[in-house]
Amino acid sequence: MASLHFLSLLEQPRERLKAIVDRAGELKARWKEGHRDPLLAGRVLALLFEKPSLRTRVSFETAMAQLGGSSLFLGKEVGWGEREAVADFAQVLSQYVDAIVFRTRSHRRLVELAQHCSVPVINGLSNLAHPCQALADLFTIRELFGTFEGVKLVFVGDGNNVARSLAVGCAAFGVEFVLAGPPAYQFSARFLESLRRTYPEARCAQTDDPHAAVRGAQIVYTDVWTSMGQEDQAQQRRAAFAAYQVNRQLMQEAGPQARFMHCLPAHRGEEVTDEVIDGPASVVVHQAANRLHLQKGLLVWLLENRE
Ligand code: CP
Ligand code: NVA
Repeated sequence: MASLHFLSLLEQPRERLKAIVDRAGELKARWKEGHRDPLLAGRVLALLFEKPSLRTRVSFETAMAQLGGSSLFLGKEVGWGEREAVADFAQVLSQYVDAIVFRTRSHRRLVELAQHCSVPVINGLSNLAHPCQALADLFTIRELFGTFEGVKLVFVGDGNNVARSLAVGCAAFGVEFVLAGPPAYQFSARFLESLRRTYPEARCAQTDDPHAAVRGAQIVYTDVWTSMGQEDQAQQRRAAFAAYQVNRQLMQEAGPQARFMHCLPAHRGEEVTDEVIDGPASVVVHQAANRLHLQKGLLVWLLENRE
């Protein structure tokens, strides 16, 4: 039986990912016509965050409000990780709420929490994966190009949580994925093996040459060089990634068809220049807006399909 949780895209059946993206499209169309269907009336979502967030937190809270439900942002007072055992915390919280979004420093903690929860746990970002972001990005890509066919996405920079989830999402939807980054920051052999085990037909490559990689790409995507929790490595990472900035020259090398994506928040002047992120090829605001719609699709799907 498929897990009731949503921890990483690799654990999700491809059909489920497609169903969530399609549901998001239907809900967005209704929303654009002015409807706020109360599909989750009386349902409550808890948000437990160990790291800061604008997009993930606000889009989930807004999604619940627009669907007629409500959300609880759990602050330090609940004593997460300090006051009682994870098992006790998880079992009790599951008595009150219908789903939990967890943003964590440690993917292992996410798995541990989920093991003890009897309601769906959604990964709101871990050190390993950011599945809600990637699925929202695939939704945006389909809106931009009307199809996944013939789309090539080049991720320039760190093979991090966002890149990993995007690589899996691209494999699931048939999008070609290339990671262009310094060898020491590319995907591990272990990750690539699990990707290929799930999606043997995936077109997923990695290279240290961003110039050759971006040529002809529909999407040039980047994320910060230093993720949350890696602040002590910032200087060394700035040096390692200096040749991987997405700037005007790189976008020109990609070609006029290329769109620029970034999960945000951005470190302007590092992984991307102002000129690119504010320029005509950039879709970053549209991309961020779609977090709301995708998460509505996810919440409705998870709560309507609970065994
Ligand atoms: N992209 C993203 O997850 O943004 P936040 O960290 O603001 O939630
Ligand atoms: N890779 C970034 C993504 C933030 C949304 C981080 O983990 O900090």
